[in-house]
Amino acid sequence: MPSSPLIAPSLLSADFARLAEEAQRVADADWLHFDVMDAHFVPNLTFGLPVMQAVRAASPVPLDCHLMIEDPARWAPGYAEAGARNVTVHAEACADPRAVARDLRAAGALAGLAVKPGTPLEGYLDVLPEFDTLLIMTVEPGFGGQEFIAETLPKVRRARELVDTGHLTLFVEVDGGINADTIEQAAAAGADVFVAGSAVYGADDPARAIAALRAQAAAARQG
Ligand code: DX5
Ligand code: ZN
Repeated sequence: MPSSPLIAPSLLSADFARLAEEAQRVADADWLHFDVMDAHFVPNLTFGLPVMQAVRAASPVPLDCHLMIEDPARWAPGYAEAGARNVTVHAEACADPRAVARDLRAAGALAGLAVKPGTPLEGYLDVLPEFDTLLIMTVEPGFGGQEFIAETLPKVRRARELVDTGHLTLFVEVDGGINADTIEQAAAAGADVFVAGSAVYGADDPARAIAALRAQAAAARQG
């Protein structure tokens, strides 16, 4: 586990008319989470590669791209080539996750695999050694501001156990409904990267919200 929990504010909850300023408001975050939605894999539509390139140029924080799109093998490497720190694709959308991971790493990014709340880890245990990040969705992907689904926590515990026993080497990331009321459960279960959209951008002082979430997660994971 990294020494300090990583906090990744989600730009989905930011003001889309001011993306550069919104990225700069969270300069003390670890990663800036960038939710790409295509209105096919999920019902919502957000932004794509040209916007990512513009945000990347303006952001003091490395980008964590979460692709909620169909045919990620075709589109994901472009985000890595554009300089994303981490690019995550959905397991449910991937015919060959191993090939996508190799392309992402070859382009210089960390490779991430995401699973929806109803997707068990079991089907992906053999491909996870090729990945650097496992994103466990704690809401149904598509929208910010939804309620945390605690039934996803056994997957977080299982992933943490696989990492702690040396079977996998990856970040365990949680995304959806993470806020002051839920981050401790996720941290205690073993997550080390925490995406937070409304809890950071909905706060009066995003920098303070990030610091508070980080402190809560650090305390909770020490038990
Ligand atoms: C949902 C996105 C999340 C979203 C989280 O599909 O993947 O990253 O921004 O938003 P909150 O933190 O408000 O649940
Ligand atoms: Zn996301």
